[in-house]
Amino acid sequence: MNDLDEHFNTNVLSVHNTTRAFLPLLEKGSLKKVVNVSTTLGSIAMAGFFAQTPCPAYKISKSMLNMLTVQYSLEYGPKGFTIFAISPGWLRTDLGGEAAVEQGAKATAEKIMGAGKDQNGQFLNIFIEGIGHYDGSNPPW
Ligand SMILES: NC(=O)c1ccc[n+]([C@@H]2O[C@H](COP(=O)([O-])OP(=O)(O)OC[C@H]3O[C@@H](n4cnc5c(N)ncnc54)[C@H](OP(=O)(O)O)[C@@H]3O)[C@@H](O)[C@H]2O)c1
Repeated sequence: MNDLDEHFNTNVLSVHNTTRAFLPLLEKGSLKKVVNVSTTLGSIAMAGFFAQTPCPAYKISKSMLNMLTVQYSLEYGPKGFTIFAISPGWLRTDLGGEAAVEQGAKATAEKIMGAGKDQNGQFLNIFIEGIGHYDGSNPPW
């Protein structure tokens, strides 16, 4: 937990500041979409399931990111924006490591591009054919 302030700065405050800076530009455009990359590790409902994953500061910050996303979606949804959080699955990156799924980035991009107004304020999950828990259904908050 010693790194909670760093996680808060990166995953919550920086997202807030970046969003705030870009909103006036997005308002002038036609694709008013803001996507916050979250994780099911930030799901309060799934906290028990992930109890053995030892990164509490990361989990707390992503849970806060989810709420930040909802607050922005409530304010800007009626103004034509689509703002949502997405769980990109377990991806093969520096963070995810070698054992993660290979198709995750493509599935995440497809989900983001396919999302529309109905997804405003939601927590989306990727769809990868044949991998049960990546069935595209929204994770619980
Ligand atoms: N990989 C997964 O399995 C997985 C699962 C769920 C969610 N996610 C989410 O997906 C997103 C991308 O993660 P990733 O897997 O691509 O991780 P990654 O390979 O570790 O990359 C993280 C990126 O964030 C940048 N970054 C970290 N701290 C920063 C800071 N304080 N200011 C500016 N940039 C900073 C890093 O920049 P530098 O390269 O300059 O260090 C790097 O480009 C994250 O939001 C993560 O929570 C990933």
